[in-house]
Amino acid sequence: MRQYRLIFIVYFPNLNTMSKRKILVTSALPYANGPIHLGHLVEYIQTDIWTRFQKQRDNQCYYVCADDAHGTPIMLRADSEGISPEELIAGVEKEHRADFDEFSVEFDNYHSTHSEENKEFSNLIYQRLKTAGHISSRTITQAFDPEKKMFLSDRFIKGECPKCGAKDQYGDGCEKCSSTYAPADLKNAVSAISGAKPVEKESEHYFFDLANFTEMLRNWTTDGHLQSEVSNKLAEWLDGGLKQWDISRDAPYFGFEIPDAPNKYFYVWLDAPIGYMASFKNLCDKQGLSFDEFWAKDSDAELYHFIGKDIIYFHALFWPAMLQGSDFRTPSAIFAHGFLTVNGEKMSKSRGTFIKARTYLDHLNPEYLRYYFAAKLSNGLDDIDLNFEDFTQRINSDLVGKVVNIASRCSGFIKKRFDNTLAINCSEPELFKTFIEANESIAKLYENREFSKAMREIMALADKANQYIDDKKPWLIAKEEGKEAELHEVCSMGINLFRVLILYLKPVIPKLASEAENFLNIESQAWAEGIEPLTNHTINKFKPLITRIDADKIEAILEASKENLEKVKQPKAKQFEPIADEIEFNDFAKIDLRIARIIKAEHVEGADKLLQLTVDIGDEKLNVFAGIKSAYTPEDLEGKLTVVVANLKSRKMRFGISEGMVLAAGAGGKDLWILSPDEGAVAGMRVK
Ligand code: 2FM
Ligand code: ZN
Repeated sequence: MRQYRLIFIVYFPNLNTMSKRKILVTSALPYANGPIHLGHLVEYIQTDIWTRFQKQRDNQCYYVCADDAHGTPIMLRADSEGISPEELIAGVEKEHRADFDEFSVEFDNYHSTHSEENKEFSNLIYQRLKTAGHISSRTITQAFDPEKKMFLSDRFIKGECPKCGAKDQYGDGCEKCSSTYAPADLKNAVSAISGAKPVEKESEHYFFDLANFTEMLRNWTTDGHLQSEVSNKLAEWLDGGLKQWDISRDAPYFGFEIPDAPNKYFYVWLDAPIGYMASFKNLCDKQGLSFDEFWAKDSDAELYHFIGKDIIYFHALFWPAMLQGSDFRTPSAIFAHGFLTVNGEKMSKSRGTFIKARTYLDHLNPEYLRYYFAAKLSNGLDDIDLNFEDFTQRINSDLVGKVVNIASRCSGFIKKRFDNTLAINCSEPELFKTFIEANESIAKLYENREFSKAMREIMALADKANQYIDDKKPWLIAKEEGKEAELHEVCSMGINLFRVLILYLKPVIPKLASEAENFLNIESQAWAEGIEPLTNHTINKFKPLITRIDADKIEAILEASKENLEKVKQPKAKQFEPIADEIEFNDFAKIDLRIARIIKAEHVEGADKLLQLTVDIGDEKLNVFAGIKSAYTPEDLEGKLTVVVANLKSRKMRFGISEGMVLAAGAGGKDLWILSPDEGAVAGMRVK
């Protein structure tokens, strides 16, 4: 039934005739240990536009979210600030709420994963999975910090690389020479938290047997719930075999204690998606809604999760399996999106492009960004770029120059000559009809998250409205005797067209739309079908609804975002290391460097820094483990050309055999770039 419904929603040509739908929508829950930044906002704005559209269409739609409040980093940050985790997450939640509010991201409910509802659902789901035989336990050995008395995941162990001796390398691989190893192989390993020497210690862990759901997931992931590129990626993961998922962590941990397992806590990623349910339950209790109507196995409501492409694994494998195994409904669809780049590059503190929501709000109107993101967003996984020149130009030309300009061109005459009252007739019913009829295709684009196409269509209508005014030239008519009626009709027509444009833009720029509704002296506008032109209707005085972007404001944002520059600069200075000892030409000539095409890139389960690459070097394919996960996602890499050392002796690593080495430059972390040859290079060419 649900699948039929989904296809119906996506492809049925006339959405207007559908009865009221019940829709529950979520965005990924932001971690409660840091501020919201523009990268986050792509998703919240995308989801908010979509839910506002659904509500404007009079569907019963709820948008819920929460802070993701558990896990080691939150516990450690609270520790270092000398406050309790509860105090930390309360403060961060306040900031998150204020940021969302000012960006008009309008949740029906915003909650926390550290809540009673979430504890109950986490326990319930766990118990049901356990009863159904999907939970097992076994003892594993892990590094332990004897001073802090806590187990250390690989990213909390530091030491010298056993291969190249580089200092300060983390437990799962060397950022400098890309070799991988077990944390125990690090030389002079210390806990990154206390500096103490870690010891090995055994502990019992609990696992979710994901493999029990292989068949279910094979069907679910190919059944219209996912974008095709996501489906394909999942098929690869499924082919590789699903492994048990470690869902427990030892004390001390900030989270929920596992029932009947003292001192064991649910891993943050277990209770995070359950937070979607918890937030909705909290809303149900406040508003008297039925939780089961949306979450029971036989629910006929639609459930959508908007997420970034980096957390597909959790949402499209673990989550549907957890829901299925605990007797709840599964999602109708997962909508994944790409990342945000700024001026064509990853957000960077040193370039001032790691921009916090708050910094932006200190300088610019949030609706500019909402419109810009809408103008760039599609329903695919491509990254979107915030280019500040394009941003300025787009806002000034579309919102200010095209849309608001219509009202400012016409309202002066209506006020001065016609006492702010529109003409008694609509002079161009055909033109008005064209504007209204566009609602169907614009609705379809909104529905399918093709926002950039929707914005293009709306701007084409704005061009039409401006063309109409240009043709009629009210500023000339106004000077002619006896043409009062014509002037009145033309300007009233302009105002009516402006009204329809505002109606279409309302999900994207809700504040501007609401101010425009005040100016037009009309109620909040629902979707367009059946609306008539405003005639003999008194409007209010026009006030400029939006101003042009001033380049100084952008400069100010970039400048303010360089706040951490000093801190960032120091490790940067270290990246220019002294030139190594001289070598003979013959030594160099031994290295066989080849152009390689990355044909496959995958996460390595359990490795924090590594990606597994399959590279094509012409007549051979090599399997290479590369320590570049901090800077790249697998999606970034597939299809790219790079340079590899092709004749490096194969090395057995913890995760498999590595048969080459990918060349990369940079200090590490996000500042790492694989070498990419110019176009024209072909896989297999020798680099000389
Ligand atoms: O990746 C993140 O930022 C996580 N906090 C997202 C959690 S989404 C959901 F599963 F809760
Ligand atoms: Zn090394």
